[in-house]
Amino acid sequence: MALYSIDIMTLFPETVGDMMNESILGRAQERGFIRVDAHQIRDFTTNKQKQVDDYPYGGGRGAVMQADPLYRCWQYIQEQYGTPRSRTIFLSPCGATFNQEKARQLLRDYDHLTLVCGHYEGIDQRFIDECVDEEISLGDFVLTGGEIPAMAVADAVCRMVPGVLPEPACYEEESHWNGLLEYPQYSRPASWHGREVPEVLRSGDHEKVRRWRLKQSIVRTLQRRPDIFREENFQGSKQDRKLLAEALEEWRNLSREQGDPKPE
Ligand SMILES: C[S@@+](CC[C@H](N)C(=O)[O-])C[C@H]1O[C@@H](n2cnc3c(N)ncnc32)[C@H](O)[C@@H]1O
Repeated sequence: MALYSIDIMTLFPETVGDMMNESILGRAQERGFIRVDAHQIRDFTTNKQKQVDDYPYGGGRGAVMQADPLYRCWQYIQEQYGTPRSRTIFLSPCGATFNQEKARQLLRDYDHLTLVCGHYEGIDQRFIDECVDEEISLGDFVLTGGEIPAMAVADAVCRMVPGVLPEPACYEEESHWNGLLEYPQYSRPASWHGREVPEVLRSGDHEKVRRWRLKQSIVRTLQRRPDIFREENFQGSKQDRKLLAEALEEWRNLSREQGDPKPE
């Protein structure tokens, strides 16, 4: 049995399947680390036309996905694949904004997710009240359907399942793992369009490279996402704390040069 399973309820299972069966996640499915299946909600209707939506009560434009086909599809998934650690999530612009911390929590606390993709104006509130544990948004904007958000959640969780990536360092050293953005990355050639790869990265001195990258991460986070930077979370060695002080100084100088209001 896969270590982590995700069932996606959608009106467009092919789109979801194509994406989730490719590349790293596709190989992880073949090797049995994860299972991701998309289910056609229309297959759970009881009318000939396979209609899944109807006019909204109270008037207004568009259509609302009806509770019953959603419920039948959800019930089938729970009976077939449900575990004591299952969680049902509706992807919705009204949900809490998704982030890396949420992905880590979903991996830690559950082993099976049911992701519900809305379409049109959304889905009948009674299905949400009866079956959904939480609502997650991809951000403060509106998409036509929940498929892209569902794939984003599935991808972010699945790449942290043991075995999917070669080692935990592959995701632990990336942006948002420890409240920092990642440092700049370079590949060959060493010189391209007159732009050189920083000398330190070619020095072969691992400790120097580590410190350079850490400093770049700190300065980049302070410049781009001061809202996520927490100095008090910085639990480094004495040497790393010195580096933090240098990075803060560098950031203040850069901000002054660029005429930004005085950084705190
Ligand atoms: C056009 S949207 C419906 C928007 C809804 N009428 C509203 O104003 O909140 C259709 C579906 O796309 C999905 N969706 C759209 N934007 C999203 C977002 N930012 N995050 C997650 N899901 C989203 C949801 O599943 C939603 O039910």
